[in-house]
Amino acid sequence: MVKKYLIILLSVFIIAIGIQVIGVIQINNAGINHYKVLENERKSDSLNLYFSNQFDNMEILTRAHAYWTDALNNVNSENESWVNNYLSEYLTDGNYNVDFVYLTNESSTFKNAVGIDIDTISDSTIYTTVLSENEEARAIIEVDNKIYMVTGYPFATDDQQNKQGAFLIGRELNQGTLDDLKILIGQDLYDEHLNITVDKNFDPLEDYEHNIFSVESIDETLYVHIHFDYQFSNYLNKTIKGYLLVISLLVLVIFAITIFSLFDRFKKEMDKTLSQLSEIDVSNNHFRPLQPSKAPEFNNIIKVINQLGINIESNIEKLMQKNLEVVELLSTASEINDPYTSQHSNQVSVVSTLIAQKLNLPEVNKVKLCAKLHDIGKVFIQLNILNKEEKLSQKEFEAIKKHPEFGAELLTNLTQFDDIRLGVLHHHEKYDGTGYPSKLKGKDIPIYARIIAVADVFDALLSRRPYRKSFSREKALEIMAQGRDKHFDPDILDVFFELVESNQI
Ligand SMILES: [Fe+2]
Repeated sequence: MVKKYLIILLSVFIIAIGIQVIGVIQINNAGINHYKVLENERKSDSLNLYFSNQFDNMEILTRAHAYWTDALNNVNSENESWVNNYLSEYLTDGNYNVDFVYLTNESSTFKNAVGIDIDTISDSTIYTTVLSENEEARAIIEVDNKIYMVTGYPFATDDQQNKQGAFLIGRELNQGTLDDLKILIGQDLYDEHLNITVDKNFDPLEDYEHNIFSVESIDETLYVHIHFDYQFSNYLNKTIKGYLLVISLLVLVIFAITIFSLFDRFKKEMDKTLSQLSEIDVSNNHFRPLQPSKAPEFNNIIKVINQLGINIESNIEKLMQKNLEVVELLSTASEINDPYTSQHSNQVSVVSTLIAQKLNLPEVNKVKLCAKLHDIGKVFIQLNILNKEEKLSQKEFEAIKKHPEFGAELLTNLTQFDDIRLGVLHHHEKYDGTGYPSKLKGKDIPIYARIIAVADVFDALLSRRPYRKSFSREKALEIMAQGRDKHFDPDILDVFFELVESNQI
């Protein structure tokens, strides 16, 4: 049973651990990855919309000034003072949120720039597109480690004919932009992690240090790198691992409780079996088999013990039978030279048995045998004394009084007949303590001896003895009644008279 439960428990434990390991892998590889994709898509959509709106607004501003006739005339006339005062400073100092202004005429003989290195713009692709191809353009460029959103329009008259130069304005992606981006991607979640970098070697998939978001400008194109918040991922991992740890502990606790319960049950079964073993009464001739246990391991032991008990019981019965035969042989031998004792013993045996039955004693046969043997000690008394016709002398009487002790001595080695031996030894004790050989009194006299005393005296009164005649039944009963509380146990005497009244004696 234990082995079976241990295997089941071990399997459950291994499965639980396996589920946890698989769970971690699945959550890390699938669950979190899925979360990453959804988050990135959401952020990308937001950012695209944001930058698109920004460019649209700048484009409106750029186009309006590219068609400003005064500006065109002053650029073409290379009036640097007017351009700086009325166009460049007007735009950069105004409420247009513009960080630089660049403009040039068609032949590039006049160039003017505010807020940015002029050569950088002249070399840029957007400038070439606007000036050479006379087309509008938008781009993001990096200048001196700063990133700018730039829109450009060719200078033109109001009717958009005769394009004669380039006009570009730009807006730096500065702290204000960062603040907007924080709101877009969730300030509460990513506040501490947001940054904008132009590090071209940055690998968003590998670099966990920049673990949120970056903007990179390559060839005048803005690349917005959105990285999954690995810190948040780690937080998720830790949380999940925390739950898994709790689950692990719970599994361990359940495991421990089950083991404890199992051993507790095992111990109970063991205690129950030991209790049954301790209750085996070795003095009782009848062996009572032990009940099977709920634990199969014990049943083999119980089976062996039961078989052992049955064998012992069988051997004891055989031994007792042999001893009984020996005792009966003794009884027979004692009757050969003493016909009176033989007949007397039979009578005493009959009456004693009736009394024992009436008293509901458990082993009536033992009472019967005890009564049969009660005078067996007389085989050691000289026959001339035993069969003397005259009245016995004091010395001879003392010799005869030894017969209970001789009889008990004869049965000494038959230990299973110990109560029979005591019955033989004390059958001449009297209830008032005046009997022999031990002067026992009252209920101290063994029950077999008290029964035999009643039957013995009654039969003796009815018998003719060498030194007197027999008494009549009436006289004998009268004498018996007089012996109440003196010679006889009153309870047993009551039973005797009940038997007399019912004519069983
Ligand atoms: Fe006797």
